Amino acid sequence: METTGYFDRFGGRYVAEVLRRPLEELGIAFAEATGDRAFMELLEGLRRDFIGRPTPLLFAENASRELGGARIYVKMEGLAHTGAHKINNAIGQALLAKRMGKTRIIAETGAGQHGLATASACARLGLECTVYMGEVDVRRQQPNVAAMELYGAKVVPVTSGSRTLKDAINEAMRDWAASFADTHYLIGSALGPAPFPDMVREFQSVIGSETREQIAERGLSVEALVACVGGGSNAIGFFSPFIDAASPRLIGAEAGGIGPGPGENAARMTGTAASDGIIHGYKSRFLTDEDGQVAETRSISAGLDYPGIGPQLAALGESGRIEFTAVRDREALEALRFFARTEGVIFALESAHAGAAAMALAPTLPKDRAIVVNMSGRGDKDIFITSPVFRPADWTGFLRAELARLESGEEIHVFGGRE
Ligand SMILES: Cc1ncc(COP(=O)(O)O)c(C=O)c1O
Repeated sequence: METTGYFDRFGGRYVAEVLRRPLEELGIAFAEATGDRAFMELLEGLRRDFIGRPTPLLFAENASRELGGARIYVKMEGLAHTGAHKINNAIGQALLAKRMGKTRIIAETGAGQHGLATASACARLGLECTVYMGEVDVRRQQPNVAAMELYGAKVVPVTSGSRTLKDAINEAMRDWAASFADTHYLIGSALGPAPFPDMVREFQSVIGSETREQIAERGLSVEALVACVGGGSNAIGFFSPFIDAASPRLIGAEAGGIGPGPGENAARMTGTAASDGIIHGYKSRFLTDEDGQVAETRSISAGLDYPGIGPQLAALGESGRIEFTAVRDREALEALRFFARTEGVIFALESAHAGAAAMALAPTLPKDRAIVVNMSGRGDKDIFITSPVFRPADWTGFLRAELARLESGEEIHVFGGRE
């Protein structure tokens, strides 16, 4: 099933000579594994027992009533193990790496969700794991760093460039060029050089296949599927089984940040600042500055705060099959609050962008139509970002008290710690 690696003019394999061979081998191994019943059965078992699949499709009854229009359904990916869709891809690639005889996994992470999923998958499958993470992200995502270490992963802070996700990807690529004999680079989104965009889409397409079955079981008349788009893995996996059909509408919500100006958002498909470029081994739409350099981006959600977009999504956006919309930070926060209040479900900040797009669409449609929103992750991880916004005084007080307690040297009782 090796493809050309191109989606119209996007995609490809723009890498140093040394990485061409490992990428070719990976493409072949992936095609063989997905054609092998034993591999697929192993994967199926892990999806069921480790990830907790299938994830439910929840009818957001109260939210739909309050908005007054189409019925909103929520695909509950946030209930997957480690809290987001990232685990679907992590476990698939880790299992493939093991089949290829690799003993070590490296990964990049921004907010830490992909790092967390990879660290957990490696612990489960007995693989050594190193996660590259920009120094800035290490500092602001400490809870995820702690969890990755608990899973036995080594987290390496990256100090080059802007010390964020794109620098972590560079560092992971550098490691892989020297270590591919025993190491697999487990990319976390539907981007990078071929075969990664195809491979990540396939491992994430379980979201779309389950949704298609759940829609059919309930006889829903679906107008649109809505997903948030960072690099694009949850969106392309969710949309995948529907792409070749004329309907439903497929809607991607990207980060509108704080406004339309340069450096204020991560709007690659709806803004005016993106142009074609080749970065991180693939050709796509990238946000660039006046000098043609990769631009700084901004979003309240770390997972959407990336200057590029997966090549297949870029192509489907240009062809018109996927419609893109930009959702601002404050609209995402409003959506997060709305679904928490009406449905008792806290969306991840990334997913709340999709929630906001569905909230805008629902009232324009009749009641017998349905919209399915992919809640790519749950919001527990965002408590350090949402609490200072929703209840600033209480949160500051809590942090001060915690710090004072730690600095006072107050003993933390460890059960069983004293014999
Ligand atoms: C919950 C959640 N949703 C979405 C994303 C965006 O990634 P992608 O566009 O690859 O789905 C992330 C990335 O960290 C995430 O953690």
